[in-house]
Amino acid sequence: MTAPKHFLDLDRLDTATLRHILDLGLDTKKTGPNGEKPLAGKTLALLFEKPSTRTRVSFEVGMKRLGGDVVVLERDSSQLGRGETVADTARVLSRYVDAIMLRTTREEKMLELASHATVPVINGLTDRTHPCQLMADVMTFEEHKGPIAGSTVAWVGDGNNMATSWIHAAVRFDFELRLAAPAELAPPPDVVRWAQGEGATIKVTDDPLGAVDGADCVVTDVWTSMGDGEDEASVSRRHNMLHAYQVDTRMMDAAGDGAIFMHCLPAHRGEEVTADVIDGPQSVVWDEAENRMHAQAGVLLWCLG
Ligand code: CP
Ligand code: NVA
Repeated sequence: MTAPKHFLDLDRLDTATLRHILDLGLDTKKTGPNGEKPLAGKTLALLFEKPSTRTRVSFEVGMKRLGGDVVVLERDSSQLGRGETVADTARVLSRYVDAIMLRTTREEKMLELASHATVPVINGLTDRTHPCQLMADVMTFEEHKGPIAGSTVAWVGDGNNMATSWIHAAVRFDFELRLAAPAELAPPPDVVRWAQGEGATIKVTDDPLGAVDGADCVVTDVWTSMGDGEDEASVSRRHNMLHAYQVDTRMMDAAGDGAIFMHCLPAHRGEEVTADVIDGPQSVVWDEAENRMHAQAGVLLWCLG
């Protein structure tokens, strides 16, 4: 039996594979919803241990457009919520479905699922990374700005799971990435070291205006991710650390007229981004959200191809 083609993280796949996945996604985008049904007879399980709007709907609609079907499981309404192991869940689901998407907390759970599943596993976000979002983000960048290779992207805010996936993307897609974050919320040093060792141009700073200067794209994310302490004291602490990192018109002006603004969503206007930026002419966030479906069509076709 050949090993399943898991889509776990961008650093685990090579550039040619990632480019091939994007091309598959762009082809289905061009064809539209009435194209061929290459995934007819295939079923995808969507397993959620955290909330979702985009990931759930884009996978469900995307899979159905390709002729396949989905089954959605939430942690609290499945035996996972009552202590059944991830390994046993992987073994059982592999007997019913053709691929499993998991959104979970610790990366170890994703890796455990992948090591016991006999069907492809797709990472739909962990505390550490969000690779499906990055595939959509690269697709969106290139639709608006041309090839991302050689471009400059500025990440402003929390050095969270999205920041780590942006670092992976900078290595695989060969662009300069500047990350501005308060020291305590800087992206994981081991990931930065890995990327620099791979020859990528990754700059980490606590100066947001310096980071966005002349960038082709400014990107941010929520100040409190799912799984970060959501009690009043920790939220207020994070806000105090991050308030200087709000993306506003001054920051977009420093980037320049041609710069685009990206955000994986959900967004909090007045926190990580002002309403005039996210709802303004430089924002491409709705294209970015749509492209989740197209990029993931590429992922599904590659995994199940
Ligand atoms: N961007 C993203 O993954 O959105 P959801 O949390 O709504 O799935
Ligand atoms: N960093 C955010 C991304 C949401 C899509 C979180 O993990 O909650």
